[in-house]
Amino acid sequence: MNRIRQDEPSAASTLSAGGGRKTTALWVLGSLAAAGGYATLRYVVLGPVPWQQLPLYVANKALALAGLVLVVAAQCYRSPGLRRQLGCWGAGLLAGHGMASFMLLHPAYFPGWFTDRGQFTLQAGVSLLCGTLALVLVGYLVLASIQRELRGGEPSGSLLLGGGTLVLGLTALHLFNMGFSGWLTPTRWHGGLPPITLLGFLLASGALLGRLLAVGGRGPRPRNEAR
Ligand code: HEM
Repeated sequence: MNRIRQDEPSAASTLSAGGGRKTTALWVLGSLAAAGGYATLRYVVLGPVPWQQLPLYVANKALALAGLVLVVAAQCYRSPGLRRQLGCWGAGLLAGHGMASFMLLHPAYFPGWFTDRGQFTLQAGVSLLCGTLALVLVGYLVLASIQRELRGGEPSGSLLLGGGTLVLGLTALHLFNMGFSGWLTPTRWHGGLPPITLLGFLLASGALLGRLLAVGGRGPRPRNEAR
């Protein structure tokens, strides 16, 4: 009997999984290198941040940007496996960003975020709430995606299903609230380079717009199809 078992990967799918892993590795390493290089150049080499702050404060910026790049990149591929791999890596880096941010939340790092009484300002509170909700949602989508795969269910084609639109919207609000005031004074940008909050906001809102236009142009989709 030469029937191929459904649960055994074919040569072609093994090859494409290998290719997918290579593409994922390139995206992960490339986005971390680019985001880390940009953060170091803008904030340390051309800006006022001392080198001692590289391991957590500057690395946190790189984790945040690289995580967002991967989550957005996941949407640009058709292959469900690649979308899931990139989404999982993006979620992992963003979880690291969330943890590092909790450690850094102190007036010494973010003086403008605290009132005289040492409490968060309204703007900082809204920004952190949006970031936290976005991270919770990304975590839920990762777990849902893994659970579906373990149950042998229909591949969703995307880690980010319908919740992806909400993740991008919350991320844009997270960044707008924390960065907007600095975006309007380009003469004060370190080395003339735009802040990472602005780059992240443009990326998240551009991807959000792309999703909304794509969904609008396609009309309603079947329930089991990726959105
Ligand atoms: C999906 C979830 C999230 C995304 C996509 C995201 C993305 C980003 C990006 C791109 C930046 C700009 C980096 C910079 O300019 O420094 C940033 C900054 C920041 N985020 Fe998030 N974030 C998320 C969740 C969170 C969570 C859960 C926290 C929790 C406390 C948080 C706290 C911060 C803080 C404190 C900064 C400022 C870092 C700095 O200026 O050094 N974020 N975030």
